[in-house]
Amino acid sequence: MANNIRPETMERITTPELAKAFIDEQVAAVRAQVGDKKVLLALSGGVDSSVVAALLIKAIGKQLVCVHVNHGLMRKNESEGVIKTFKEGLDANLIYVDATDHFLGLLAGVADPERKRKIIGKEFITVFADEARKLEGISFLAQGTIYPDILESIKAAEGKKAVKSHHNVGGLPEDLQFELVEPIKLLFKDEVRVVGEALGLPHSMVYRQPFPGPGLGVRCLGAITRDRLHALREADAILREEFDNCGLSEKVWQYFIAVPDIKSVGVKDESRYEGWPAIIRAINTKDAMTATIEEIPYEILHKITYRITHEVEGINRVLMDLTPKPIGTIEWE
Ligand code: XMP
Repeated sequence: MANNIRPETMERITTPELAKAFIDEQVAAVRAQVGDKKVLLALSGGVDSSVVAALLIKAIGKQLVCVHVNHGLMRKNESEGVIKTFKEGLDANLIYVDATDHFLGLLAGVADPERKRKIIGKEFITVFADEARKLEGISFLAQGTIYPDILESIKAAEGKKAVKSHHNVGGLPEDLQFELVEPIKLLFKDEVRVVGEALGLPHSMVYRQPFPGPGLGVRCLGAITRDRLHALREADAILREEFDNCGLSEKVWQYFIAVPDIKSVGVKDESRYEGWPAIIRAINTKDAMTATIEEIPYEILHKITYRITHEVEGINRVLMDLTPKPIGTIEWE
């Protein structure tokens, strides 16, 4: 437990120089811990696992085996981005597992949000563990644990109740109990980003907004279907593109589309056109425990509405969620 507590004397990493010193220190520590053994990492493409991957590639190169599981609930072009950055850019030892059919099969007809989360979390571990069993000579498991995760688990140990069951790669089966490598576990998120930039990761990856482990699964509300999931993914890509174009992606902490399992009547090409609504959520927060609504200029909302309703098959309305947290959580499920 002691080395899970950030020493009061530890300087906050705010500059590239401090980041470089941290990287050198961790490279040496990882080499000392791991020797010539192999390390496994579940690389989701999120900031934390990406920074750990880049750090470990620097420290031990091909001794790191990254596994990227695509559960079919990633955003548009997200898995492709992971492959491009790590396999093509950093020559990583990367295994790509496309488990889309497996996940969507298990989720078919499941409408309850907590059951969906549990299925996605549990299956993620199962698929990852199956890959791990196929590999030989792995001794360590690297994780993108950061300091807020440690503070959260301390709270949990004190008996405080979680609102939603969050998903990460804890809890591997008994036969896969590896020793952990957690090089960024004493860092806060802003420090992780400074370290990521110093490691040369793309700005878009390092400053990427948070994306929940269950991915679009908690934004394709109710029982997930392929056509509604596809519509959600396309609408979300348009929202992100437009926010990038007008600089809002730098100002808004988290923004995305949710698509509920309801249809309304519309009209297209002079015919009845039933479709789903796309709901825009754009929030600001410090720590995701509370959130306020970002005011988006109407002309941008009009443009996004026009593009989504004209470019995305199956969406015939666009709505804006103005609910702060509390009372609404950030995600809809
Ligand atoms: P809520 O919906 O609880 O979300 O207000 C707070 C923040 O957490 C993200 N979130 C998750 N992150 N695994 C994660 O890693 C999860 O299962 C998960 N669920 C929600 C959410 O996107 C928001 O930033």
